[in-house]
Parts: sequence; C-alpha cells; structure tokens
Amino acid sequence: MKALIPAAGLGTRFLPATKAQPKEMLLVVDRPAIQYVVEEGLASAADEVVIINSHEKKAIEEHFSPNPELVALLRERGKGAYADMVEYVGNLNVSYVYQEEALGLGHAVRCAAEKTGDEPFYVLLGDVLVPNNKMLPAMQAVSDAHGGASVIAVMPVPDEEVGRFGVIAGEAVADDVWKVESLVEKPALADAPSNLAVFGRYLLSPRVMELLADVEPGVGGEIQLTDALDAVLKEEEMYALIIDPADGFDTGTVESWLETNNILWKQKQGR
Ligand code: G1P
Repeated sequence: MKALIPAAGLGTRFLPATKAQPKEMLLVVDRPAIQYVVEEGLASAADEVVIINSHEKKAIEEHFSPNPELVALLRERGKGAYADMVEYVGNLNVSYVYQEEALGLGHAVRCAAEKTGDEPFYVLLGDVLVPNNKMLPAMQAVSDAHGGASVIAVMPVPDEEVGRFGVIAGEAVADDVWKVESLVEKPALADAPSNLAVFGRYLLSPRVMELLADVEPGVGGEIQLTDALDAVLKEEEMYALIIDPADGFDTGTVESWLETNNILWKQKQGR
C-alpha cells in the first residue's frame, strides 16, 4: 500500500521564499515540512511514500537521498548524532512520480496510478501536518469496520471558511464518524451541505484512481480529487472521520506556518 504526497505546487503564497526553494522544504521547528508528512506516511500501513513532484523541485529528492560523504565527514568530526540524522532521512522509503503540468489535485493523484495499482492508497496533503501520526491508523480502523470503504478526515470549520475546502453531506453513524452522501469542492456558504471540511488526509479505494481518469476540470478549472470522490459514491460507500483539530497543524499560509512553528516549538520544549 502506498501513501501519496502531492508536492508539485508552485508555493505561490510563500513567494519570494519559494522562488528557489520548494515550499515543502521550509523549516518547521527542526525539519523540512515534508519530512513530517513522509514520516507520517511511513508510520501508517503504507510501505512506501510516493511524492508527486515537479522536475523543478530537486531539493526535495536531495533531502531524501543518501549522502555517504556528508555522513562520513560528520562522523570524522565527532558529530555522530547529526550523521545519524542524515543517514536516517536518506534511507526513508520514498519514490517519485512527476506531474508535468499543474492541472489540479485530482490530476496530481492520478499521476501515481501506476504506483498504486489495484490497492487502496492514502493521500496526504503537505499543507497540513499531523505530528502525532495517529490520524491514518484511526482512518484505517474506520475503513476496516466498514468493509474496506474509503475514509476521509474532516474537520468542523466556521461558516466564513467553508468556501476554502471540500465539504461533505451525509449523516452521523457514530460520535465522530459520518457516512458520506456527497461532496462539493469550495462551495458558496449558501450551498454548503455542512460545515465539515475535507482536511487533507484520505484513505481511498482503487476505484477512485480509475475514476480520476475521467474527471473533467471543475472549480478553478482544475481536476478536483473531490469530484472523483463524489463520483465514486454512486458505486461504493465512504465514511468521514471527524478529527480533533488539535491533532492537525496548517502550514498553508505564512501566518499559519508561523503559528504552527510556534506551537510545535513550545511542545518540543515541553512548555
Ligand atoms: C484541497 C482540496 C480540498 C480540501 C483542502 C484541504 O484544496 O481540494 O477539498 O478541503 O485541500 O486543505 P486546496 O487547499 O488545495 O485548495
């Protein structure tokens, strides 16, 4: 089973910091943001993380490649702990596929079709970090309890934010689980079927990957993953796990990135 991390975006909101450096490589406390997401993927049932990259963002691949020269130099200089870190990060099980054109999240995910084959797969959006790694196993448990159905993480958001997200319609089947009836990407508030927003962690059936091949451009002219999820509901069940907002950290804007750094830094200091 694979965990997919789309990473081919331009990082526009972070310019000029992201002119020569991928947004995914920006530091969050002590690691590039994408390292948290890769570690989360590998802590789940996935055996490999597939980064959907662009050819312009080689720094991501360099980060996850072995660097025996640097390791040897650090050891020679008595910096064993740093050598261990470099060795560890270079040995994480990461591979790459490429999205040649930025045509939307659904298009990015579809670029990994050959990797996922006929297995379920995770999608982890890099804008949100889940440092305790607990969300994917919780989603897997919901899927197992419902015959292997797709499961998406959702979070209640205030009215003024629903238009930024995918939003679900459905009904509660447990305190923190909904059965999904439909999804809509970035609805106007008046059209939003609930205030439960798709958060950026997905456990999806292989049928979603097949359907993505036929999804037409939607909101913003982009091929939307949300539209493939809505389409699969005609054939399969899907559930939504309502997450505890305290488990996830947004890094999608400069402000939220700074705030996340602040909170995680304090957590690291034990404050
Ligand atoms: C994407 C998805 C959206 C989801 C959001 C979560 O939107 O299309 O459904 O709610 O991520 O962050 P984006 O933020 O890429 O516009």
